[in-house]
Amino acid sequence: MSITSGIQNQLKLRPRADDRTGQRSGAAGLPNKMTARGVKVFYGAKQALRGIDLDIQENRVLALIGPSGCGKSTFLRCLNRMNDTIEGCRVEGQIALDGEDVYGKAVDAVQLRARVGMVFQKPNPFPKSIYDNVAYGPRIHGLASGRDELDEVVQTSLKRAGLWAEVKDRLREPGTSLSGGQQQRLCIARAIAVSPEVILMDEPCSALDPIATAHIEELIDELRANYTIVIVTHNMQQAARVSQRTAFFHLGEMVECDDTEEIFTNPRDERTQGYITGRYG
Ligand SMILES: Nc1ncnc2c1ncn2[C@@H]1O[C@H](COP(=O)(O)OP(=O)(O)OP(=O)(O)O)[C@@H](O)[C@H]1O
Ligand SMILES: [Mg+2]
Repeated sequence: MSITSGIQNQLKLRPRADDRTGQRSGAAGLPNKMTARGVKVFYGAKQALRGIDLDIQENRVLALIGPSGCGKSTFLRCLNRMNDTIEGCRVEGQIALDGEDVYGKAVDAVQLRARVGMVFQKPNPFPKSIYDNVAYGPRIHGLASGRDELDEVVQTSLKRAGLWAEVKDRLREPGTSLSGGQQQRLCIARAIAVSPEVILMDEPCSALDPIATAHIEELIDELRANYTIVIVTHNMQQAARVSQRTAFFHLGEMVECDDTEEIFTNPRDERTQGYITGRYG
């Protein structure tokens, strides 16, 4: 069975609520949580993104796919201004969160990153206890007024990240004492703890085994009730399983973005077709 026919079967087996409307291309009328218009990124003289236009719909999962080096991580980092921290990196164009320019002069990047959180490829717990990892953001942003409230935030975040049952009796142990899959869920709990509106995930499962991956994928599906999620993945089956929208990037361009089922069953561009059928990338 080819990769695409496998994905097509999978999509057939798992109809999504959205599919029943029979509407295409975001016609379901969901509001855009974030928008990108004409986004170009340069690293020194080298151009990595060539004018990206993309809508990110609220409470949905958008998957970014494409060959290595096409600019997926670069684009993801534009959304919460993580590129600001890279020397020589310049961003042009417009990115809006709830219609407001995130590169506007009045916007504080630290506050923005509390609203648009990020989970990285390699789990990166701080060298602190499990509790303090999750409490870190609420503490620096002053989101909990006392110990009881902080305990509550930590517990809720760990529950939402599907980790509470495994760590409730060892909250004082270091975050690094957890397994890789548990560490990634800890990082998700840490991201959730500041009540972000958008969560960016850059290949969050690439360091995990299939069981831990399945756990994170289930979690992503649950999280989208409360958050808007953008996930970069090299795993086509994963994109098909977790996302409702998929955008295909190639050589710094966004080639097409559509309902995930459309991208995998009826791509319009031959570069997308080539990539999802494994001809290159
Ligand atoms: N910090 C940086 N400095 C200079 N060039 C960079 C930097 N980060 C990325 N690039 C370049 O920008 C382009 C896009 O890279 P990016 O990491 O966004 O690709 P990607 O699609 O995420 O790839 P992968 O799938 O391998 O993670 C590449 O040509 C890369 O070499
Ligand atoms: Mg990348």
